Amino acid sequence: MFLVSWGASRVARGAETARGISLRAEPVGVGIVGAVSEQDHYFTAQPASPDERRLLRVHLAGRDVEVETAGGIFSPDHVDLGTRVLLDHVPAPPATGDLLDLGCGWGPIALTLALGSPAARVWAVDVNERALDLTRRNAERLGVPNLRAVRPDEVPEDVHFAAIWSNPPIRVGKVALHAMLTHWLGRRAPGGEAHLVVGKNLGADSLQRWIATELGVAVDRTASAKGFRVLAVHDR
Ligand SMILES: C[S@@+](CC[C@H](N)C(=O)[O-])C[C@H]1O[C@@H](n2cnc3c(N)ncnc32)[C@H](O)[C@@H]1O
Repeated sequence: MFLVSWGASRVARGAETARGISLRAEPVGVGIVGAVSEQDHYFTAQPASPDERRLLRVHLAGRDVEVETAGGIFSPDHVDLGTRVLLDHVPAPPATGDLLDLGCGWGPIALTLALGSPAARVWAVDVNERALDLTRRNAERLGVPNLRAVRPDEVPEDVHFAAIWSNPPIRVGKVALHAMLTHWLGRRAPGGEAHLVVGKNLGADSLQRWIATELGVAVDRTASAKGFRVLAVHDR
């Protein structure tokens, strides 16, 4: 199929895909960017690739657990390195309130929040229906009843977040990414903090500047490791 891009990048051969091929992004303008199979994209609502489920042993919230993953989603074979950097550098999550994992994939961040803060209500948001199904099943498998995996439009408007943790989908393109961050960072509760992990070569430093300038908030770089930056966003 042909893919229309709004701005920043196109996924090229060898770029980050649902199948975990290591990736390269090429800057392009607005328009049709080429013949790219939809199944290559982890951020499609209904992945075209086979929904073959498999079990994976991972370490989350200080314990070894078994989770279910599948193709057609982000990083199905391991906890992504950027996600691991985020989880290794965030402070403990608030014990109560609404907590958000923006772009949950199979759920490593949301599950960590829910295991760490059993009295909080964790929202795992994604546009990929397969990812949402896997996150729900993984919450059930790990016995965490305080996690809701939903599409973005299913989060009630009056919900505001005491914390947001995210490995955001940089590859959706700048315009879509900026719209997403404007919306969700604006839904922090008073005193709420967001922690984002972004690859240095995927524009972490320019994104940090954009968030601070355009959203009028403070953005601190709290960690830099293994090619990733962790950004903490809070009110000035
Ligand atoms: C880099 S992946 C991170 C996945 C998971 N949190 C992890 O650490 O493995 C980003 C996720 O954002 C999702 N995504 C893309 N566009 C989105 C949107 N508009 N709203 C919410 N999630 C989105 C993608 O489907 C993908 O699962």
